[in-house]
Amino acid sequence: MTDADCRAAIAAERAKWGDRLLILGHHYQDAAVVALCDAVGDSLELSRAAAASRAERIVFCGVRFMAETADILARGPAGGDNGRSVWLPAPKAGCPMADMATAEALGTAWARLAEADPKAAWTPVVYVNSTAETKAFCGAHGGMACTSGNARRILGSLLGERRKILFAPDQHLCANTARQLGLPPEAVALWHRALPDGGLPPAAIRAARIVAWDGCCPIHAGYTPGDVAAARAAHPGAALLIHPEAPAPVAALAEEVGSTKGIIEAVSRAEPGARLLIGTEDHLVRRLAAGNPALDIRPLRPIVCQDMGRTTPEALLRVLREWPEETLTRVPDALIPPAHACVRRMLAVG
Ligand code: 13P
Ligand code: SF4
Repeated sequence: MTDADCRAAIAAERAKWGDRLLILGHHYQDAAVVALCDAVGDSLELSRAAAASRAERIVFCGVRFMAETADILARGPAGGDNGRSVWLPAPKAGCPMADMATAEALGTAWARLAEADPKAAWTPVVYVNSTAETKAFCGAHGGMACTSGNARRILGSLLGERRKILFAPDQHLCANTARQLGLPPEAVALWHRALPDGGLPPAAIRAARIVAWDGCCPIHAGYTPGDVAAARAAHPGAALLIHPEAPAPVAALAEEVGSTKGIIEAVSRAEPGARLLIGTEDHLVRRLAAGNPALDIRPLRPIVCQDMGRTTPEALLRVLREWPEETLTRVPDALIPPAHACVRRMLAVG
């Protein structure tokens, strides 16, 4: 089938559903997939779109944690079957960072924090890039989710209430957000999954305002200060816009640190002729460069999320035609109420 035939077949299938179907796509999807989506956004925007939608079926061009979040929101606070379902065209599209924190390991850390500092008001916060099970743990313990677009607001409001935070799984988003909130580096203690008691003595837990899980996005975490030096030497005068999943010493060198939406907005504000280096996934960087010919946009260093790249127009067409069982994303009923509380509390903060 040619690309044009595939696009026409998708349009024909799409038309049968009207507003009973919503096709969502993350900004890191390939341009050919983005062109087929009803709404494209960052994690926060897509969570909001899923929450606002009444569609019977949501097809999520992204990775599993995003489809799970959409399912949690589509099924409502009680869970069960309300006739709504979420489909992931590339069922193998996971997120290695999400898999770095399990609910069980988080539970062990949680117990240790309460033991080391029992007087503190601890709150768990999970980056939306996390498993449904982990979100359920967080929701069951009074916590909430955050995305890279609202982490500052959420952590800022909890710290303002004198709460102490267990943050998982992204250590870099945590460190960058803490820096933006003006916390000194020693206010964040790193919980090392592989070490007994996270490698943290009780005094370090008591001294910290945030305990951060040691997970990371293997794609963004690979950026180094050397990448910035090399890119600035090759493109003198260029401003660096970078995603907060990059390590803090690299993000500290950037003119702007923002979610994918934040980066897109910064590009839209740039004056014609501006030179920009962008430190995030390459599908987005290439689309921004192609869509803004008046700007000189280069990748800080091209990085590709293979999981995001698994969705193709052919895979989308297969879902719309066949609705294969393995593409149905269904969070277990028992996890929905606490996981829903976790995501709903985030959306209430904004
Ligand atoms: P955003 O929260 O910016 O959409 O990022 C999601 C993601 O997976 C980044 O790697
Ligand atoms: Fe996960 Fe990183 Fe891919 Fe985002 S870019 S989906 S955090 S592996």
